[in-house]
Amino acid sequence: MQPPSACACRGCIPWQGILLAVSLLTFWSPHPTAQLTIQPVPVDAAEGTDVLLLVHHASANVVGYTWYKGNITDSRHRIVSYSILTQTATTGTAFSGRETIYPNGSLLFVNVTQEDTGFYTLQTTRNDFSNEVATGEFHVYEEKTSGLSVGAIAGIVTGVLVGVALVAALGCFLLHTRTGRPRSF
Ligand SMILES: *[C@@H]1O[C@H](CO)[C@@H](O)[C@H](O)[C@H]1NC(C)=O
Repeated sequence: MQPPSACACRGCIPWQGILLAVSLLTFWSPHPTAQLTIQPVPVDAAEGTDVLLLVHHASANVVGYTWYKGNITDSRHRIVSYSILTQTATTGTAFSGRETIYPNGSLLFVNVTQEDTGFYTLQTTRNDFSNEVATGEFHVYEEKTSGLSVGAIAGIVTGVLVGVALVAALGCFLLHTRTGRPRSF
């Protein structure tokens, strides 16, 4: 048996060194739950459905939320702001009338269009006037059922009618041969 302090190879890092490195990394890396994040639900939405941008890990001392369209915090792209202190929402130039902000900062989009696809930025304001920014993104795709062409629908209808006609013809044929036979006896 090898003594535990012995190094098996030349130039290998002693286990104490690895432990020190791991503990230093744990100490320096920011706590994952402290980071403000945006979770779009769903990330891919069909046209005409609703999307909710959920806010996670906002600081306890947040007094206001402001949402912007795009990857920027530019007042010209402001959708809506919410003040926790006054419990009021104020709309901006990028407000479409389909967004609702909740007291927890989450933003609901109803009846999304393909133009809604893109980035959305949230800026929180704390009671010490500092702020935090996080960005989320969602994609709106064309509704598949409304995308069916007139030709495709006509094809399906024709196929069904041909099927019904075949079944009817087969039924008539069977009925004819069944009712026809007893008379011949
Ligand atoms: C925030 O509020 C909305 C609406 O009440 C809710 O749907 C959502 O789950 C809440 N939570 C988070 C984390 O945003």
